[in-house]
Amino acid sequence: MNSKTRSKSVDISLERGRDYSRARISTRLSGLRQVRARSQSAVQAIHRQLFARRHHNTEDAPYCLPNDDEEVDRLDQQHYVLRALFGRNYLAPIQAPAYVLDIGAGTGTWQMEMAAEFPDSQFIGIDISPIQPTSCLPSNCQFEMVNMLEGLPYQNHRFDYVHQRMVSLGVPTDRWDMLLSEHARVCRPGGWLELLETDWAPCDGGPGAQQLTHYIRELCKARDCEPRETANLTSQIEEAGFGDVRRLRVQLPIGGWGGLIGTQARHVVLSAWEAMRGPMLEHGVATNEQLDETFALLEAELVEQPMWLCLVVYIGQRRAD
Ligand SMILES: C[S@@+](CC[C@H](N)C(=O)[O-])C[C@H]1O[C@@H](n2cnc3c(N)ncnc32)[C@H](O)[C@@H]1O
Repeated sequence: MNSKTRSKSVDISLERGRDYSRARISTRLSGLRQVRARSQSAVQAIHRQLFARRHHNTEDAPYCLPNDDEEVDRLDQQHYVLRALFGRNYLAPIQAPAYVLDIGAGTGTWQMEMAAEFPDSQFIGIDISPIQPTSCLPSNCQFEMVNMLEGLPYQNHRFDYVHQRMVSLGVPTDRWDMLLSEHARVCRPGGWLELLETDWAPCDGGPGAQQLTHYIRELCKARDCEPRETANLTSQIEEAGFGDVRRLRVQLPIGGWGGLIGTQARHVVLSAWEAMRGPMLEHGVATNEQLDETFALLEAELVEQPMWLCLVVYIGQRRAD
């Protein structure tokens, strides 16, 4: 299914907090026109427009990247870049997890590939944006519209494997402990947690990269986030209830010097930075002219010198309570 089809089916207003899989069914049954005709007072828009990009509209969720067609394409490309970089979709030593939770599932591509690799496992992906496919889903795949910051709506020890990738822009600094303890609560003893995160700042580079890093940090600060903390989560993950936590630091090359992965990563990462423009303007972090100047400098630097995005992976095994 291509992304255009995918997002067309979700570009409607649905009730906040509703289970998306059920919303999909009711949309199909009652028809788009009826859904659109519902009283606006009873319906809370799930998207908002910001400087020509579509964003989630979940209150209290600081995540700043858009959720429109362009972002759906970027997320899928990001998925392929990460899969190529690691050579696989997971690093935790899972074998036959009965139940898997993917937090911040994005387009759902990771989950659907995993569902094909583990046909006997049941996968649930949650996200505040319903940008996952709504038809032709593998029977072992389900997506739900859930704000992870409100707690995970699953019973204790439900999952054998909890996975979260590239969600740091959505976690306020003071909510990491709460989120990790929710990861631990829903993971069964002996089950696995895998997190893959980044602080989104370019490593190395010149004045353009430094200026952009400053703007990203200011944007995150305005939204109470500090993605740099993702580099040091080991003790918090252990305190939440996971043992033998391993941390792996990996550098994603950005630019043609990094071969095919670098060339594709350049597009994926530059598009993410460019997608932060609207939120940066909204928060008064920089003006359009300042951002134009920064991006022009950065693009020149990307040609002249190696630059990376630093990724960090954590793998931990749930201890017995
Ligand atoms: C950069 S995308 C990564 C998507 C996917 N994990 C991947 O690696 O392809 C981050 C995702 O986290 C979701 N997200 C952000 N804040 C969230 C929240 N509070 N609850 C649930 N999902 C959230 C976003 O909507 C977005 O789809």
